[in-house]
Amino acid sequence: MSFEPFNAFRYAHTHRNEVAWLSQNTNHLVPPEVVRGALEEAIRERVYEGYPLASGDPELLELARTDLGLDGMTPFLTGGGTESLYMLARALLAPGDEVIATDPSYLIIHRFVELSGARTVNLDIYAPPYRLTADRVRDAITPKTRMILLIDPLNPLGSGYPREEVRAIAEIAHDHRLLLLNDVTYRDFSEGHALAGEFAPEETVTVWSVSKNCGLAGLRLGGLLARPKLLAEITRYNTNDLGVNVLAQVAARAALRTKAKWIGEVVRQTRENDRRVRAIAAAVPGATVPVPPSRANMTVIDIAGTGVPPEPLQEELLRRHGVFVRAGNYLSPKHGVRFVRVSFSNPPGDIDRFARAFPESVRALAVRTPAAR
Ligand SMILES: Cc1ncc(COP(=O)(O)O)c(C=O)c1O
Repeated sequence: MSFEPFNAFRYAHTHRNEVAWLSQNTNHLVPPEVVRGALEEAIRERVYEGYPLASGDPELLELARTDLGLDGMTPFLTGGGTESLYMLARALLAPGDEVIATDPSYLIIHRFVELSGARTVNLDIYAPPYRLTADRVRDAITPKTRMILLIDPLNPLGSGYPREEVRAIAEIAHDHRLLLLNDVTYRDFSEGHALAGEFAPEETVTVWSVSKNCGLAGLRLGGLLARPKLLAEITRYNTNDLGVNVLAQVAARAALRTKAKWIGEVVRQTRENDRRVRAIAAAVPGATVPVPPSRANMTVIDIAGTGVPPEPLQEELLRRHGVFVRAGNYLSPKHGVRFVRVSFSNPPGDIDRFARAFPESVRALAVRTPAAR
């Protein structure tokens, strides 16, 4: 008899319609009519039969640039922000280079860094203020340092950077001639967000996405923004010589055109859900939320004090309750055994399900887990 370990993603996709998807920071709050009409029209016109303009829809490019408000920067479209991250790591890093980064972090970027023969220097930020500081960045610089990774707000902790800290880190990049990778995927959820490109325009590559703010994760569209010279260096590694998905461009254009009208309500509901998730966690003995409130649309719940490990909890929540959260090992080599990540740009009903499932699952597992007793 062969034994296959439980595959959470396969299970969740198979039961997609019954699952409360709190596991990937996706956004389920954007009104569907924002993109539906544009997509229906594009499908009626069968725009998918031809290639898109290889350089990207000009209006979409302009919307992406004005959305960020960074003058003098050139936007570029890729298959999600992920592809931008891969391209820039390959193009800008060489064997032996060091990238100042964090633990926890969005570790896929670290993997791309390693593919280039470079390595990340992971500063442990699982303690207040749960983010980088300019002082710690300065202390970590060595002759090998080539880049600083500034994910703001940060997946998974939901921590964000005050404007003055962004400025200070950008100034370090400028003074030491380092590249600054500013991943702003969750920017729209962060009040008063500041862009590093404002302070160090020559050194900064800004990576953006419509996956989370516009609720278009499945369409795989994002991009980067940099000064023309730096952009040209990066786009040598572009594989989408024939352009990125044409329907994704149509949807992103429709969403960015109208974003100002609906993003306020998306953020309001997200913040309300954040408050509820924190209250649900606080009512479970041994569970804590290190970063209250989140500046993104996700948070970490530290469950070390419950004695229950994250992976069995992820499985219990999914299989018994249809609630999909993410175990921490995917986001932190050092602290991943302590936490689960929960995202909450979801309808309130999904949070109601979490409210029932989380305490019950921790209780059920505590009975079965010797360490928790
Ligand atoms: C920090 C960060 N950057 C980039 C991405 C990639 O987003 P996408 O490829 O969907 O644009 C994610 C996705 O979760 C993320 O959390």
